[in-house]
Amino acid sequence: MFETLTPQAPDKIIRLMQMFRDDPRLGKIDLGVGVWRNAAGQTPVMAAVKDAERRIIETQESKSYIGLAGDVGFLSAMADLLLGDAAGAVRWAAVATPGGTAAVRQALELVRLARPEATVWISTPTWPNHPALIDTVGLQRRDYRYYDAKTGGVDRAGMLADLAQAAPGDVVLLHGCCHNPTGADLTPADWEDIASLLAERGAVPFIDMAYQGFGAGLEGDAAGLRLIAARLPEVLIAASCSKNFGLYRERAGLVMALCPDDGICDTLQGTLAWLNRQNFAFPPDHGARVVTTILTDADLRANWRQELGSMRQSMMRNRAALTQALRDATGSDRFGFLAGHQGMFSLIGLDEPTVARLRTEHGIYLIDDGRMNIAGLTDSTIPVVAEAVAASI
Ligand code: LMR
Repeated sequence: MFETLTPQAPDKIIRLMQMFRDDPRLGKIDLGVGVWRNAAGQTPVMAAVKDAERRIIETQESKSYIGLAGDVGFLSAMADLLLGDAAGAVRWAAVATPGGTAAVRQALELVRLARPEATVWISTPTWPNHPALIDTVGLQRRDYRYYDAKTGGVDRAGMLADLAQAAPGDVVLLHGCCHNPTGADLTPADWEDIASLLAERGAVPFIDMAYQGFGAGLEGDAAGLRLIAARLPEVLIAASCSKNFGLYRERAGLVMALCPDDGICDTLQGTLAWLNRQNFAFPPDHGARVVTTILTDADLRANWRQELGSMRQSMMRNRAALTQALRDATGSDRFGFLAGHQGMFSLIGLDEPTVARLRTEHGIYLIDDGRMNIAGLTDSTIPVVAEAVAASI
């Protein structure tokens, strides 16, 4: 039977990871996959994570199963982190998942069970795994305009015009913060307009929150999500702990659904647990337990918040320094828009041949669409990248 298989093309992020690994050049610079790096170019384990792991190793007495939904302590700690004060005021169902990707997948599977005819609306552009997962699950999808390459900002009018076509029961996938790949985020006024529009259309917002704390801080990054949660009766949320806890390979995340009715919420909880059972049974526990240990201990939490804050500051510094270095290297303000972006990524506005030249001639790796991992820059690589970009355009 296996001879019937045809090769599956890896997505552009995964392909680039492999190309970078295969490149023997010593001075190569990885600005591809989204990982935060320190000044030495490393992605260290966060101090609070190390402490929490030590505590877990010392005190954990069993590795027996928890439950299909994962640890309830993790779910409620994450609900607080995501929803803030609203966590106690809204009804929610949630299950832990292996990272944010599985959270998106489970949310889409839930949509397929609830409303197989729903169309899932995705921003242009978006993270490449969004359309891939929607297609794999077998839902229909449509694009809504999002990024205006001319301004480097959000195409607000285009986005609202497209979303006005969403049908009742359609699902609108929104990036909670730090839009991947563009770096262009929604303003509070945009969130207000989206909330009103979706309420009017009867469409369901689905918020992918993969970078809370990387853009406007833990609270600022959740403001749009909280506004939507306060205004819409049904909301889907996929959250990842990969970036803000630096737990990438541990696969910690959760899928959550808000709903206005206790009975429906019970069914939702059971359905999400059942979906976990079908796909992987019990979600991984270690990363989730680290997160819970940190969020429920005042000292660890303060330490984590501080380290996360300094990671955010370093991204902002990189962004400002790169913008200035590009200004100096090109003698123009062509890349000035980068300073207004948020989070670890920006679409820097280079076409595919230019990105390929940066890779082959300078050993600088960006995603084909021109997405740069700003968090992967260091003081020593910023001038090198700026000079190479100036020489390649
Ligand atoms: C990225 O966009 O680089 C990250 O979210 C990693 C991934 O899984 O694609």
